[in-house]
Amino acid sequence: MKIAVIGTGYVGLVSGACFADSGNDVTCVDIDMAKIEGLLQGRIPIYEPGLTELVVKNTAAGRLHFTTDLDVAVQPAQLAYLAVGTPPAADGSADLSALDTVVDGIAPHLNERAIVVTKSTVPVGTNARIGRRLKQLTGHDCDVASNPEFLKEGAAINDFMMPDRVVVGVRRDEVAEVLRELYAPFLRTEHPFLVMSPESAELTKYVANALLSTKISFINEMANVCEAVGGDINDVRRGIGHDSRIGFAFLFPGVGYGGSCFPKDVRALAAMAREHGIAPRLLLAVDRVNQQQKNVLGAKIERHFGGQLDGRKIAVWGLAFKARTDDIREAPAIVLVEQLVEQGAHLTVYDPEAMENVRRRFGDRLTYANRPLDAIEGADALAIMTEWGDFRHPDLDVMRQRMASPVIFDGRNLYEPRDMQRHGFTYHSIGRSPVRPADGCDAGPVDPTWPNERAPT
Ligand SMILES: NC(=O)c1ccc[n+]([C@@H]2O[C@H](COP(=O)([O-])OP(=O)(O)OC[C@H]3O[C@@H](n4cnc5c(N)ncnc54)[C@H](O)[C@@H]3O)[C@@H](O)[C@H]2O)c1
Repeated sequence: MKIAVIGTGYVGLVSGACFADSGNDVTCVDIDMAKIEGLLQGRIPIYEPGLTELVVKNTAAGRLHFTTDLDVAVQPAQLAYLAVGTPPAADGSADLSALDTVVDGIAPHLNERAIVVTKSTVPVGTNARIGRRLKQLTGHDCDVASNPEFLKEGAAINDFMMPDRVVVGVRRDEVAEVLRELYAPFLRTEHPFLVMSPESAELTKYVANALLSTKISFINEMANVCEAVGGDINDVRRGIGHDSRIGFAFLFPGVGYGGSCFPKDVRALAAMAREHGIAPRLLLAVDRVNQQQKNVLGAKIERHFGGQLDGRKIAVWGLAFKARTDDIREAPAIVLVEQLVEQGAHLTVYDPEAMENVRRRFGDRLTYANRPLDAIEGADALAIMTEWGDFRHPDLDVMRQRMASPVIFDGRNLYEPRDMQRHGFTYHSIGRSPVRPADGCDAGPVDPTWPNERAPT
């Protein structure tokens, strides 16, 4: 099939490359000239495992093209995929201005039988509205389908190539059949192709993200309870996860969810509910818990240093909102960095992939390290904010020697408190009692009245 993908970001570029890889002729369009010029020279604007190889291979095979010219892409297309961003507006609702611009832009170029497919996450009723607008502009009925995307950054190619399910929202069976054919190569494992109304498809995407966000906020709140009452959230997690009604997925305590989707989609769903007279009590709580969770590690650091952060040397490992991506949108690490810099701390930061994005945002307010161990040289403390594999098995003895004082604030529970204690660290994590270095035998959990915990040397 001839496909135009409009918006060449995380979703558009991955979708375009995967559709091309299954034999379609795909042209990706973007208004960002620098991005398209880079892609034409084989430079991939984002870090996503496997994406470079896929783009290079399909471009060389002549199946994947890039342009800033809507006309060139849309005029011959049987399918015009909309994949531009739908960021949050000031009131939390989805800002559809980029999408509206694209709809108006493609109208004069669409061939009469083309199907417009919305991959961007959009509020219920948007596909119907696009249909009405296109009819107004073209003078004829246009097929508009919803095809929400469920890929995860960091595993996007795999998720796209082997989706748990494909959801399409259509008004006519014929449109569903075209999309079923398009997706057939990706559903050989018998995962379902689910056909529903555009409204249900639009809502499915929001409900999926809202439920995943709810699980994260729930386990984070329980982690805070655990810590307050003297439990260990990892044990509790094991205790509940084996219940087949509960399971383990998405119940990892941490420093809150970030990224371009969960925060904005929870807020947009809440705005949608409110607009229709439903009080989104749970959604608002999920969002509030998450925002507060992003402050939890900063508060621990502040407490540890007795509120005196001015001049403290703190290392931060992990800046991306999660591992295997360079995306820092709404990342918990960014909140922490802002907080610590504000209070006068000197930060040296390291992330395997997100350094460029962070440098663009913070400039010379931070020191940038090339390796994790360089970041902790002479540090008064280390904060870990992203669960990169690189951080999971460090040489703890070398770390202790390099740091000015061996104190770790682990926002991802990467280590076992007992190990850290044995290696001479004061170790704070999420939902577990802090531990201080063992002096000889088992020192047990930290006594909160222990002076060094409140006012370190
Ligand atoms: N990132 C994810 O993990 C993910 C997953 C599922 C769904 N989504 C949804 O997919 C949509 C896109 O998200 P993303 O993360 O890929 O966004 P993104 O910001 O990475 O990419 C959007 C792209 O659209 C381009 N663009 C904006 N206006 C344009 C115009 N008028 N013409 C052509 N191009 C234009 C931008 O330059 C940018 O390259 C959003 O609705 C998002 O909620 C994202």
